[in-house]
Amino acid sequence: MNKRIGGLLHHAKQRLEAADCTDTPGLDAEVLLAHVLDRSRAYLVSHPEVRLENSQLVDFERFLIRRGKGEPVAYITGRKEFWSMTLEVNPSVLIPRPDTELLVQSCLEHCESHSHQIADLGTGSGAVALALASELPRCLIVATDRSREAVLTARLNASSLGLGNVSVRHSDWFEALGEERFDLIVANPPYIDPQDKHLSGEVRFEPRDALVAGNHGLADLTSIISRAPGYLVAGGWLLVEHGFEQGRLVRELFSDAGFHNVGTFQDLGGNDRVTEGKCGYFNRTKTPDLVLGSK
Ligand SMILES: C[S@@+](CC[C@H](N)C(=O)[O-])C[C@H]1O[C@@H](n2cnc3c(N)ncnc32)[C@H](O)[C@@H]1O
Repeated sequence: MNKRIGGLLHHAKQRLEAADCTDTPGLDAEVLLAHVLDRSRAYLVSHPEVRLENSQLVDFERFLIRRGKGEPVAYITGRKEFWSMTLEVNPSVLIPRPDTELLVQSCLEHCESHSHQIADLGTGSGAVALALASELPRCLIVATDRSREAVLTARLNASSLGLGNVSVRHSDWFEALGEERFDLIVANPPYIDPQDKHLSGEVRFEPRDALVAGNHGLADLTSIISRAPGYLVAGGWLLVEHGFEQGRLVRELFSDAGFHNVGTFQDLGGNDRVTEGKCGYFNRTKTPDLVLGSK
């Protein structure tokens, strides 16, 4: 049996290719082996002759079996890079997506050099809240999630990254925000239609509550957009991530809720991905909760 890095990587890539579980078999094999050895991928490339210990071989074999069954690399290693930070992830939180960096980037456009109060609804691993906290040390960020496991994970990530300007609360959307008002509210809520065929792919390992929303994926977006004016200061901004086919409907929801300066940004693939709007007033009673459909 080949025990050297070079040979192991070669065979692992062939196995993952044959399992047809990934578009990036070589990269996945490298990331998994680097994790086993607690080394960088560059080390693997420059040390193909190094032999693995038996215990390391066993770990690598276990990882390859899991990957071969479709489990995402990030759940196997327990880590995911987002906004140049390494976040701990586990099956109770969504794996942060590169597209969500557009949401962070769009928020930053509204926050330059001021001290703001920001809320991140449905924080999951804490990805968005922690990226904003790292860029905006003078801002206070309240992050909420309905999943207790997600709240614990986000708190752990905040602590590992030494970001003290984030407070993570267990909450059903706005519930734990009380009478607070925010300069900016950001959310990447579940927005996938329960019938979407992609739910049978690799995302089946991720929490369904983080992905799926009723009313063709719009139920949580509708709830958040309709209620947000009651938690924003006058002139405050709401930014949400949504599906690439939901841009027009989401803009209508913003307009119906009284937002102005409504606009949508496209992701790197040129798809509608993030919509924002400016709140013209502060009045909770004028914005009834329009929850349409259920999960
Ligand atoms: C699409 S994930 C986004 C996670 C993270 N913000 C990110 O971008 O990687 C949606 C998150 O919303 C949370 N969520 C779903 N329904 C919720 C609710 N009613 N109240 C609060 N959080 C909720 C899920 O637990 C999940 O963490």
